[in-house]
Amino acid sequence: MSGRHTGPVALCYGTRPQTIKAAVIRRELSAEGPVVALDSGQHYDYELNALLYQQLGVEPPDSFLEVGSGSHAVQTAAMLVRFEELLRSNDARAAVVIGDTNSTLAACLAAAKLRIPVVHVEAGLRASDALMAEEINRRVVDAVASLLCAPSRRSAAQLERESPAGRIIATGDVAHDVLREQLPRVPPAASLLSPGSQPHYAYVTLHRAELTEEPQRLSAIIDQLGKLPVAAVFPMHPRTRASLERAGFPAGSRGTLTITPPVGYHESLSLAREAGVVITDSGGLQREAYWLGVPCLTLRAETEWRETIELGANTLLPPEQATRELHRTCERLLHSLPAPWDRTAYGDGHAGRRIAEAVTRLISSAA
Ligand code: UD1
Repeated sequence: MSGRHTGPVALCYGTRPQTIKAAVIRRELSAEGPVVALDSGQHYDYELNALLYQQLGVEPPDSFLEVGSGSHAVQTAAMLVRFEELLRSNDARAAVVIGDTNSTLAACLAAAKLRIPVVHVEAGLRASDALMAEEINRRVVDAVASLLCAPSRRSAAQLERESPAGRIIATGDVAHDVLREQLPRVPPAASLLSPGSQPHYAYVTLHRAELTEEPQRLSAIIDQLGKLPVAAVFPMHPRTRASLERAGFPAGSRGTLTITPPVGYHESLSLAREAGVVITDSGGLQREAYWLGVPCLTLRAETEWRETIELGANTLLPPEQATRELHRTCERLLHSLPAPWDRTAYGDGHAGRRIAEAVTRLISSAA
């Protein structure tokens, strides 16, 4: 069904989880018409970027903006300028943005100011902290986008309360598409773990500002992770490492905890699939654990993925309680029964196709 519009559609992204979802979205968009892939370079380390292109078997982006890290203002401003140049020079007919990062915000603003319709993938998620960086980004993008692709019934209902009719489409979650497609290619976890870690181990990822901005508490939580009743493996995000090192805390393995450099998407899925418990603050891993049937302990006071809590797949533990309660909560989850929960809260794993078809309708209606 190729060539349903003459586009081009600009697919804009830049962080690890976006690069993963962009792989599926790009393929589906390409079946409908021309696509230009614009990677902001917000993530540039090998494990956070180039390795993902290899694992997911996608072509490199058409443009890599090399924006890198900086304060929110510096990073977002640099991306805004570069996205504007590229949206203009490519004569983009629509811009597809994903999630809630600074790359999402910058691409959305650049496109909207050029009067290029914006399509927001992962629209309608909300947290109560309106000033959290990601919350600011997603609310602004949802207010400006022409088409809002909701990953769940709850997010679609949220958007219906906020937005005029006709902009919202319930697509399901692209992360489910990727997981479904990639799972058969995922290696066994044994090669990634120290001997004797299995069968029950904890897979840990922590990187969000709520934790990294309090390095003393972060360090205390990591100490607790080294005292869990099972082995734990923690591929550490560079931001987490930088936060600990800047404050003079150790960022190395201790006790039962092994800290490694960041891992690729396949390795992460493998570690999650075989874990006894996932301990995380990442939205992506909360859903992956849910789909894989592994109990998840989320070190946050709330989650945008509330269905995982309601279905009993996910447990919240606010960071300030984590040092006291991590051990007990983790033990309870490790001994919980195998996952009986319903796994359809975020669609059927064909979100990319629905998004691409909706983009075609949007372009055709604007022509
Ligand atoms: C960003 C998103 C966050 C998302 C996460 C996924 C924003 C505001 N935050 O957070 O919502 O969950 O991506 O991973 O956009 N760094 C490196 N190498 C890299 C990238 C970053 O070392 O390739 C380090 C730098 O010290 C940098 C820090 O990590 O300052 C933070 O990076 P940044 O891109 O600002 O945000 P993330 O924490 O990755």
